[in-house]
Amino acid sequence: MLHNWIKDKDLLNGVQSPIPTLGGKSVLMKPLIRIFDHCIGEYVLRIFGDLFLGGNRFHTHYNNYRIERIGNEKDRGLISFYRAIQDPEQLDYLIRGIGAFSRPGLVTKEVFEDFKMWRRDPSTDAVDSAILTYVVSKYSRAANRQDFCNLKAGEGINIGNLRRKLTPLTRIYRDVQFLNGGYDKPFNQLVHREDALIYLDPPYLTDTDGNTKETEGYDDAFSTADHIVMLNGITSESCKAKVIISNYFNELYYDYVRRGLLNCYFVGMVHVSSSGTGRKRPEFIFTNYPIPEYVLPPIPHDFRYYEGEK
Ligand SMILES: C[S@@+](CC[C@H](N)C(=O)[O-])C[C@H]1O[C@@H](n2cnc3c(N)ncnc32)[C@H](O)[C@@H]1O
Repeated sequence: MLHNWIKDKDLLNGVQSPIPTLGGKSVLMKPLIRIFDHCIGEYVLRIFGDLFLGGNRFHTHYNNYRIERIGNEKDRGLISFYRAIQDPEQLDYLIRGIGAFSRPGLVTKEVFEDFKMWRRDPSTDAVDSAILTYVVSKYSRAANRQDFCNLKAGEGINIGNLRRKLTPLTRIYRDVQFLNGGYDKPFNQLVHREDALIYLDPPYLTDTDGNTKETEGYDDAFSTADHIVMLNGITSESCKAKVIISNYFNELYYDYVRRGLLNCYFVGMVHVSSSGTGRKRPEFIFTNYPIPEYVLPPIPHDFRYYEGEK
């Protein structure tokens, strides 16, 4: 099964990510794509759902048209952004709109706060919500779409570069079904299918001083109770799909591993974006099927050192 290592380059589209996103961990992209590709090949799967889409990295970078693809996200502005890219006319309107709304000096803290509100307002037109979402992502700290960053707003957005970045994605996204809503709807449709791969990257849980807590800073929070409902769905008898969940190490998830209901694998060291110190922490995936060692990245020898850092 050496092919997983040899084909790495063929698995990637060689394009840029469409939008900066909080928790968009580019270093994990290659190991995760290798893991997805192994799973799809090994179990002869026909459909792949990324149900907490965020920055939409996998449908962007993973060169895989063999199967049906679904992308789901609760944030309407993000989904409208990806849908607009699928249609060349809408893409043109989107890029022009981003150009108009992002001129250096135009977006002050007050304007940014208005954009934040309007982009989530259901009465805002879908493509306008996409335009505002891109500007808010670009002009926020760590792309968290919450805190205004004056420095970034002063720099503006290079529209020529944006057009070059987004244009190739029209073809790449052509057959992706983008869905806007909670993950649970597509999850409940896919979970009974033996030919489905479901990837779940919800807002994370972290362990602080022995307590498991949800990550703050997302517009759409995902509580500990939500995580439990999701984990119970994956580990129930009726789940026939292959499921991969990303998260930090935490006791709530690890309890499912102890009970033999999930597997846990190290996938890489990731910068903690909020730390500003270059601090890293280990990332894991939890799966309901076993992954052979040759598909996984090697575990660094100083792994425990990072894990102990606070
Ligand atoms: C950790 S981020 C996903 C990052 C993404 N995998 C990437 O690589 O950029 C979590 C995403 O889940 C979305 N979200 C929060 N609650 C959700 C829900 N109940 N259903 C679907 N998406 C949700 C958030 O808006 C956020 O974009």
